[in-house]
Amino acid sequence: GGKLLTWQGELNPVRSPVCVQTVRGLEQKVIGSTPLLTSKESLAALDAAVQAYDLGRGLWPTMRLAERIEHVERFITRMQEQRQPVVNLLMWEIGKTQKDAEKEFDRTRDYLVETLSALKELDRNSARFVQEQGIMGQVRRVPLGVALCMGPYNYPLNETFSTLFPALLMGNTVVFKPAKFGVLLIRPLLEAFRDSFPPGVINIIYGRGRETVGALMESGKVDVFAFIGTNQGASELKRMHPKPHRLKAVLGLDAKNPAIILPDADLENAVNECVLGSLSFNGQRCTALKVLLVHKKILGPFLEKFIAAVGKLKPGLPWEPGVSLTPLPEPGKPAYLKGLVDDAVRHGAQVLNPNGGEARGSFFYPAIVSPVNEQMRLYYEEQFGPVIPIVPFEEDAEAIRYVVNSPYGQQLSLFGKDAKRMGALIDAFANQAGRINLNTQCQRGPDTFPFSGRKDSAEGTLSVADALRVFSIRTLVATKTT
Ligand code: G3H
Repeated sequence: GGKLLTWQGELNPVRSPVCVQTVRGLEQKVIGSTPLLTSKESLAALDAAVQAYDLGRGLWPTMRLAERIEHVERFITRMQEQRQPVVNLLMWEIGKTQKDAEKEFDRTRDYLVETLSALKELDRNSARFVQEQGIMGQVRRVPLGVALCMGPYNYPLNETFSTLFPALLMGNTVVFKPAKFGVLLIRPLLEAFRDSFPPGVINIIYGRGRETVGALMESGKVDVFAFIGTNQGASELKRMHPKPHRLKAVLGLDAKNPAIILPDADLENAVNECVLGSLSFNGQRCTALKVLLVHKKILGPFLEKFIAAVGKLKPGLPWEPGVSLTPLPEPGKPAYLKGLVDDAVRHGAQVLNPNGGEARGSFFYPAIVSPVNEQMRLYYEEQFGPVIPIVPFEEDAEAIRYVVNSPYGQQLSLFGKDAKRMGALIDAFANQAGRINLNTQCQRGPDTFPFSGRKDSAEGTLSVADALRVFSIRTLVATKTT
């Protein structure tokens, strides 16, 4: 509530995925700590948000839009001053390369600036009066209440701020729980939050999910829940709310985005895009390509080029020049990925690239695994890491069956030239994915484009403008004119 408190309670050490050699072997370095809040302390943060939203007393939800915008502009200026410490922490905490860390920071700042323009536009449109059948009305966009915003570790700044700020700007008050990894980087921004917003409007909590977020959900006082993470996590949390029908959820969930490479594809381009798509940030993007369906006619040349291109990627530390393969922040991840590869090998697949699947400390060298089939976990299980399953196919119907039977439907990529064949596949997939990419990798950007998903991959649509709609609702004020 407007104060940056000195924490007296239990602390949670934060380890960097960057390992150091000790007498005991490779160990992850502790680079800081965060408070471990109890459920009581988390509920106090929620109560601060509830009070700040109180329409009788709270200033924020009824404040003039122009004024709310000024608060956010103040924050953006202060945020920019902290660019270097945040970028450094993105490298140390989650192993993001310097280039990608800088990109995440700048993209997030630009997202906030673009949100302000979209908001002005939305406000202009909703100020209009409508008149029909003797009734005149005005539609007002109003906030939903208290928003709980949680983000994932792969974009701890961008993916949380792109829900948190639209929620704030629409007049909601917020409880924000930073990602488990990528949590220290919020610290350089704490003073900017405190100085830019009135007390209670934004409340940051830290700690174990069950105690903190679980308690908030069980209280029934959360009105809108923005979560980017696993299906399991989202369902468990949603189930805890006593009135799920009163809870609006905005969810970005699991995905298994396929690339389908047809025989007439430009192989050079397909290989480049598939390497970027499957291995940028070590494949830890919800939009990463997570399985490559390659037509048998071009399987040999595609794999030859793909293995060579992956072999050129440089492993190393996030700040080293030219590096793209870096340590993984989740401590159990290398063992989990190895389990997936071993399962595929047990069922008849092979690791095709030299050193593929080698693990050392928090590092896992990318593994290209082929041929993958439905008996293997890698077929539909989201790996969220540097393992690339190859599924060879002969008939387009097989690729269609793979996509239709997938539990997920975030994005897919199609590589080919024949317009008729590509057109038929686009038609078959139109209702199977939130975005179909032609001759290019899957990705979320530009952030003004709609970002959604079908089946178990998402709930709601986000984009700069959509996020403002998601965190608000329209109320009609109407009167008779005759
Ligand atoms: O992890 C999910 C992100 O929204 C992906 O964004 O496609 O820009 O990397 P990106």
